Amino acid sequence: MTRAISLHDVSKTYTRGVRVVDRLSMDIEPGEFLVLLGPSGCGKSTVLRMIAGLEDITEGQLLLDGEYANDLVPAARHMAMVFQNFALYPNMTSRGNIGFPLRIEAPGEDPGPRVDATARMLGIQDLLDRFPAQLSGGERQRVAMGRAIARHPSAFLMDEPLSNLDAKLRNHLRAEIAALTRQLGVTTVYVTHDQAEAMSLGDRVAVLRGGVLQQLGTPRSVYALPRNIFVAAFIGTPRINLLRGLVRAPLDGAMTVSLGKQSLRLPEPLCLDHQLLRVQQGREVIVGLRSEAIRLAKPASARPGEVAISGLVEHVEFQGHEILVHFNTGSRPAVVPDLEAPRPAARPSRRRRRDGGSVLGRFRERAGALRAGPPVMLDEPEDAEPEPDPSDTRLPGDLVVRTTPDIDLRRGMQVPLLVDIAHLFVFDQHGERICPAPTRLPDLEG
Ligand SMILES: Nc1ncnc2c1ncn2[C@@H]1O[C@H](COP(=O)(O)OP(=O)(O)O)[C@@H](O)[C@H]1O
Ligand SMILES: [Mg+2]
Repeated sequence: MTRAISLHDVSKTYTRGVRVVDRLSMDIEPGEFLVLLGPSGCGKSTVLRMIAGLEDITEGQLLLDGEYANDLVPAARHMAMVFQNFALYPNMTSRGNIGFPLRIEAPGEDPGPRVDATARMLGIQDLLDRFPAQLSGGERQRVAMGRAIARHPSAFLMDEPLSNLDAKLRNHLRAEIAALTRQLGVTTVYVTHDQAEAMSLGDRVAVLRGGVLQQLGTPRSVYALPRNIFVAAFIGTPRINLLRGLVRAPLDGAMTVSLGKQSLRLPEPLCLDHQLLRVQQGREVIVGLRSEAIRLAKPASARPGEVAISGLVEHVEFQGHEILVHFNTGSRPAVVPDLEAPRPAARPSRRRRRDGGSVLGRFRERAGALRAGPPVMLDEPEDAEPEPDPSDTRLPGDLVVRTTPDIDLRRGMQVPLLVDIAHLFVFDQHGERICPAPTRLPDLEG
């Protein structure tokens, strides 16, 4: 048996009116593998615990197979949870741990056959007579998985089950979990803060920030069509390049996005996203460029849709199969709060700090009101050209590009770059992607 799990406007308030989950709605299909992804503290575990029945739902409805389930006791939901810290009983062997919930659920029955079948499935027959202290981290997590599987639950709820394991084991178990849950066909809700894990496991990924759902879609769609700057920056490595740009749309000429010292001329015909840019004339926007949207090549070799800029090599990161080159292109990075490694914020000008009605001030207000809105650090348009600062002769690298390791690059080299304009995201001042059709995937075959 597998379950459909639906949340309708579900909110959670622990104390003093702070909503840690804010009107969350989603429909998880029977057999689906759904990943809840977001930074630490965004409410992922709370959502999972509300689905499990371990936490009251403050407002909204939980439906299991279409039936109202807010008040159903955990046992009646037939769901199995797997936690980050394995949560095994230290005084029981693996056999005892796996069999324990079976003995509770069906006191008269011998759990032996099911425990053995589960152990075979997970390849842990040799571990059945050991105690948790005699197991490695990975083995403990396999036993914890076994305890969940043996119950034949209607859904798996997994809360960062791999976080306490080393990277190699994590990748290995990740593949195992994917294979197992598919084989069992049981609805799985999997919580992680690791975007790579989310992208590799999920049928769909729900991106949460500050308790608010930002986007729900297939890994491919959240990567290719991020709805806002937060999703764009949270998903993908290396992190998407986010630069502050100014739209210039003269009535009689080509539209450009000025990036400080250089500008991108948008080639005609404009792609779908960029057709709406004209109304941003004179406004500051944020430009998002994934590292694969830029390549190292001379202007003469530009393909249709590619635009030439140049960059000064600041730093070269050798990765083995590729290198990441950090360029200084004379543009200013945009800062997205809440991401694990924010880039340094621009120094606020004294004038702006006094001015309570600044754009930034309004963002902050809006952010306060909306908790999870994606506020971004932008200056007022008149600040787009800041006064030169003598200590600012070398800006930090603002553009990261990946390339093959056979190119010899050194700090200080000036390198020609080509930007694929079809892969240029533009976000408005509220961090929302400017796009006419948010649900359409670009033609990736084209
Ligand atoms: N029992 C609790 N009482 C009060 N606040 C809580 C409780 N559990 C979690 N929180 C708060 O709710 C927010 C979301 O927590 P959590 O769901 O654990 O986030 P995540 O799993 O995404 O890291 C956090 O700010 C956390 O401090
Ligand atoms: Mg958590």
